[in-house]
Amino acid sequence: MGIKILGCGMYLPPKTVTNEDFERIVNTSDEWIIKRTGIKKRHVSQGEYTFSMGLKAAVEALNNAKVSPKDLDLVIFTTVTADFYFPSMSNVVQGKLGAENAYGIDIACACAGFVYALDMAQKYIDADDGVQNVLIISSENITKTVDYTDRSTCVLFGDGAGAVVVTKGNSKAYAHLGADGTGCELLYAHLYPSANFFAEPGELSANYAAFPQGKGRYMYMNGPRVYEFAVSKMVYSLKKACEKAKISVDELDVIIPHQANVRIIDTVVKKLGLNKDKVYVNIKDHGNISSACIPVCLAELFSKGALKPGFKVCLVGFGAGIIYGAIVFTL
Ligand code: UT7
Repeated sequence: MGIKILGCGMYLPPKTVTNEDFERIVNTSDEWIIKRTGIKKRHVSQGEYTFSMGLKAAVEALNNAKVSPKDLDLVIFTTVTADFYFPSMSNVVQGKLGAENAYGIDIACACAGFVYALDMAQKYIDADDGVQNVLIISSENITKTVDYTDRSTCVLFGDGAGAVVVTKGNSKAYAHLGADGTGCELLYAHLYPSANFFAEPGELSANYAAFPQGKGRYMYMNGPRVYEFAVSKMVYSLKKACEKAKISVDELDVIIPHQANVRIIDTVVKKLGLNKDKVYVNIKDHGNISSACIPVCLAELFSKGALKPGFKVCLVGFGAGIIYGAIVFTL
């Protein structure tokens, strides 16, 4: 029982926004952004659909995996920035790919989405109920939730997609997933600042009173509180996943953390005593792409030939909710 990664793909929209571009629109500096976050530039979509970025990453992953869309049994799509209330992103992509033998599931587990999806893929494969080949796509248009007058959030995020083809294999993946919903008010964006035709205006404001910092469809974030959660939950879930896998943290060959802030990653490295050379960081070039961060890292590492058979890998993420998770497996 277990999984095997057959191939990865990624897509980043062509337009990039640099720290210098932000200097022109908010009161910030390249020096502050690089020192406090580690980000230099990020890719931003110019109205491209979330499903369409995911589709491009998926095609690359299928080509690298040498798997035909017709051989897929399940498509899992992770996003918090879907294009539609309905249909689901996974169904749109399933149709566009011609993956006629697959069904689709969307999951919205914020920036930890890919970790949850990989755990889910393994559980469907292990159930031995007809699911063998799974396509996981994580695609985000997170910049459409960003308020470009808020310097504390607008500099952090970018858009893009990563995809991975997973099949039945011999390596069991050990996950530790968790949530602390008391943190919901620390990071959120309303789906729509409107109600149905029949709603009284008072009902709407009563609803919004529950999330008083809300900025309509734009993101609100209490950065320092999210930062604290991020460090403690990443350390905790990584240790727990290693415990389940019965390996020590030192035995890991590659650690891929969610790319939210280089200082968060550095603190986690320090707290766990990790070898920094084993921890992959690409935030400088992409910023935070929410759930797409981890599969984009995987795609970059595979294309560099840096992931070898037998390597022990840990993916660890956290996101709005607060939600978190780590997963350990052998390549
Ligand atoms: O994917 C998960 C979602 N997000 C995260 O994980 C983010 C977690 N949080 C963080 O990464 C950090 O908290 C931030 C990068 C958001 C902020 O860094 P910080 O070191 O925690 O700064 P702060 O919020 O405590 O603010 C310190 C100062 C403030 O100025 P005053 O009040 O001390 O005068 C901010 O207004 O830095 C100011 N500041 C900025 N200055 C220049 C905040 N953003 C900027 C900016 N440029 N872009």
